Amino acid sequence: MHNRIMITGAGSGLGREIALRWAREGWRLALADVNEPGLRDTLELVRQAGGEGFVQRCDVRDYSQLTALAQACEEKFGGIDVIVNNAGVASGGFFAELSLEDWDWQIAVNLMGVVKGCKAFLALLERSKGRIVNVASMAALMQGPGMSNYNVAKAGVLALSESLLVELRQVEVAVHVVCPSFFQTNLLDSFRGPNPAMKAQVGKLLEGSPISAADIADYIHKQVAAGEFLILPHEAGRQAWQLKRQAPEKLYDEMADMAVKMRAKAQTR
Ligand SMILES: NC(=O)c1ccc[n+]([C@@H]2O[C@H](COP(=O)([O-])OP(=O)(O)OC[C@H]3O[C@@H](n4cnc5c(N)ncnc54)[C@H](O)[C@@H]3O)[C@@H](O)[C@H]2O)c1
Repeated sequence: MHNRIMITGAGSGLGREIALRWAREGWRLALADVNEPGLRDTLELVRQAGGEGFVQRCDVRDYSQLTALAQACEEKFGGIDVIVNNAGVASGGFFAELSLEDWDWQIAVNLMGVVKGCKAFLALLERSKGRIVNVASMAALMQGPGMSNYNVAKAGVLALSESLLVELRQVEVAVHVVCPSFFQTNLLDSFRGPNPAMKAQVGKLLEGSPISAADIADYIHKQVAAGEFLILPHEAGRQAWQLKRQAPEKLYDEMADMAVKMRAKAQTR
């Protein structure tokens, strides 16, 4: 019976909602995050929702902490069926202003954190013929202005997921990648970038979402069950992706106009 799931970044936002969605199906959950109070609250909510499990502090930048988490899943659950590489941080800033440290930090968490998660759990997933769910972003597909390091990290998550989709089919490990547009969570708390005005702009985008983290978790649950590889929870995201495939130049023009507006706003603050 497939009913054991591991989620990184489970102490807040989308990770917590994914935990609750699977908990309602009676799953056993391994909940990981660097935010320990957040993890404890998620576990409490998971229990109220009908799930069970354990929490473990795990920084996804540190491979040894991920292998320790895989080991804990083996000891407590006898293996794992689904992993969700969801932990992530926000960043912003025009390329000219982003430091190389901003790049290293963003890539270390949002891209290498996912690479390490997949690698640490691969043997367990091969044994259970399980699934990998990687949380990327629409930024993986659309590359909006003022967030090149985030775009590159998330495009890397998509490329990794496509690579694993084809490599792991033979060993019957399924792969999914989730690309949401902006939605309201605590993501802004992790924002790092050279221009504070950019943080306020990102905050506005998060607030503007027509759907919540809970809606997105519900959509992911449905699409995973349907075997969908590329999961696009926002209607506007699905439309934008279609536009990019049909007329990429049109989209680049829109993005370039957006860059001009963002630069003007960032300078008037
Ligand atoms: N909120 C959005 O608009 C949005 C849009 C697209 C994609 N995403 C992606 O969704 C995922 C979840 O983000 P969220 O919006 O729920 O934000 P959130 O900040 O509410 O949750 C992210 C969680 O990840 C944890 N985390 C950060 N760095 C970590 C590390 N090094 N090791 C372990 N845990 C770490 C944080 O402590 C936090 O609990 C991220 O990958 C994010 O990039 C979010």
